[in-house]
Amino acid sequence: MSNNLFIKKSIAQLIEQSENHNTLRRHLSATNLVLLGIGAVIGAGIFVLTGTAAEMHAGPAIALSFILSALGSLFAGLCYAEFASMIPVSGSAYTYGYATMGEFIAWIIGWDLILEYLFGSATVAVGWSGYVISFLQDFGITLPASIAQSPFLYDSTGWHHSGAIINFPAMFIIGLMTTLLVIGIKESAKVNNIIVLIKVTVILLFVGFGISHIHMQNWTPFIPKNTGTWGQYGFSGILTGAAVVFFAYIGFDAISTTAQEAKNPKRDMPIGILVSLLICTLLYVAVSLTLTGIVNYHNLNVPAPIALAIDTAGKSLIWLRPIIKIGAIAGLSSVVLVLLLGQSRIFFTMAGDGLLWKSFAKTHPRFKTPHITTIVTGSFAALFAGLFPIGLLGELVSIGTLLAFTIVSIGVIILRKKEPDAPRSFKTPWVPVIPILGAGVCLAQMASLPLDTWLRLILWMLIGFIIYFTYGRKHSITRKLYEAEEEKIH
Ligand code: ALA
Repeated sequence: MSNNLFIKKSIAQLIEQSENHNTLRRHLSATNLVLLGIGAVIGAGIFVLTGTAAEMHAGPAIALSFILSALGSLFAGLCYAEFASMIPVSGSAYTYGYATMGEFIAWIIGWDLILEYLFGSATVAVGWSGYVISFLQDFGITLPASIAQSPFLYDSTGWHHSGAIINFPAMFIIGLMTTLLVIGIKESAKVNNIIVLIKVTVILLFVGFGISHIHMQNWTPFIPKNTGTWGQYGFSGILTGAAVVFFAYIGFDAISTTAQEAKNPKRDMPIGILVSLLICTLLYVAVSLTLTGIVNYHNLNVPAPIALAIDTAGKSLIWLRPIIKIGAIAGLSSVVLVLLLGQSRIFFTMAGDGLLWKSFAKTHPRFKTPHITTIVTGSFAALFAGLFPIGLLGELVSIGTLLAFTIVSIGVIILRKKEPDAPRSFKTPWVPVIPILGAGVCLAQMASLPLDTWLRLILWMLIGFIIYFTYGRKHSITRKLYEAEEEKIH
C-alpha cells in the first residue's frame, strides 16, 4: 500500500464529482441558503449565553464582543466562500482539505467536524429541552424529572449522577428533525424558512418594543473597569466575551455542506455565507444592546436572559414573554435541523471517497436524501443529547469548529499558491492577510478554552486516527486510483 498520507484529489476531479455524479436533488435557491445560514446560526448563543457572558466578562460591552467575534467568523467566512464557490461539494471543509492538504488532513477535518455538527446539534437540543420544559411549566404542565434531564452531570469536582434517566425532550427534537431530513431537502428547507421567519420576527419584536425600556445608567460605564483579573471586564473582558459568544456564530459554514443541493452553488454559496453572517451580526448587536440597556449586567447571569429583560421592563411588555419563548424554541429547532443536515452531508461525502462505510453514501430512491447517514447521525446525536449536560458538549463544539476554521483559512493560502489560475467565482480579498487574521483569531480563541477541553479534543482525534488507519486508509478510493497509476508507471 502507498505510504503517502497526503494524496490529494484534484479540483477537476472534485468538480466532476459534484456536477456529473450527484445523486442529491438541486432544490436550494440563494434565499434558501441565506435562510439556512440564519437557521443554523441564531440559537442557544443569543438566547442562552449572552447574559452570562455580559455578567461575567464584558458588561454592556458584550455588544463589542459580538462585533469582534463576528470579525473572526467573517475572516473564516470569506475563506469558506472562496472554497465553496470553487469546489461546490457537500463535504465542506473536509473536501477543501482533500484538495489542498491531502487525505490525512482531510480525514482530520472530517472527524473534527463531527464535534461541530453532531455534538453541536446535541448541545442545542439540550438547550431546546430546557426552554420547552420551562414553556410547558408556564402552562402548568410539568414533565417528570426522571425524563427531563441528563442523567450525568459534570462540574469541577467531577462526574455525578443527577438521578434522572434520560433527557427525553432533547432526544425528541433530534428524532423529529431527523425524520424531516430523511423526507426531503425541499421539505426541510421549507420548514426552516418558516422557523427562521418566526425567530427573526420575535427578535425584532424584542428589540423594537424593548428600546423604550432602555435606561442609560445601565450602559454607564459601557466598558466596566477591569477587576485586575484577565477576562473580568475591560479590554480583556471584551476578548474573553468574544470567545464565549463565538458559539453564537457557529453554523454559517453549514451552508457549504448543501453545495450539491444548491441550484447555482458557484454563485450562491458566497451569498448564503456572507449575507447570513451579516444579518446575524446585526441582530446580535441589537439584542445585546437592548438586553444590557434594560437589565443591569450584574443581574444577567441567568439561563433565559431575554425573558428576564421582559420581566424587568414591567407590565407593558408581559405579552411578549410567551412569544419570546416560542421564538427561542423555534430558533433552537432550526439550529438542530441544519446542523444535522450538515453532518449527514459530510459523512455522505466521506463515504463516497471510501473513508467511511459504503452504505453512508447511499441516497433514498424516492426522497433523494442520504437517508442512512441522516439516521445514523440522528441516532448518535439523540444518544449524546439524552445523556450529557450542555456545558460539557458546548466547549467541545467551539474548539472543534475553531480548528476547522483555522485549517480552512490556511487552505486558501495554499490553494492560491498551488492553483493560482483555477476559476474562482468568489475571491477572498487581501490574501494572505485575511486568512492569516482568520487563523490567528481562531487560534487565539482556542487558546482561551480550558485545558480539559483541549484534552477531550486530543482524545477525540486519537479515536479518529484509529478509525482512519484501521478502515479509511484501506478503503480510500483516491488511494486505490493513485496506486493503480503508480503501478502503471513502474
Ligand atoms: N450558533 C448556534 C447557536 O447559537 C450553534 O445555537
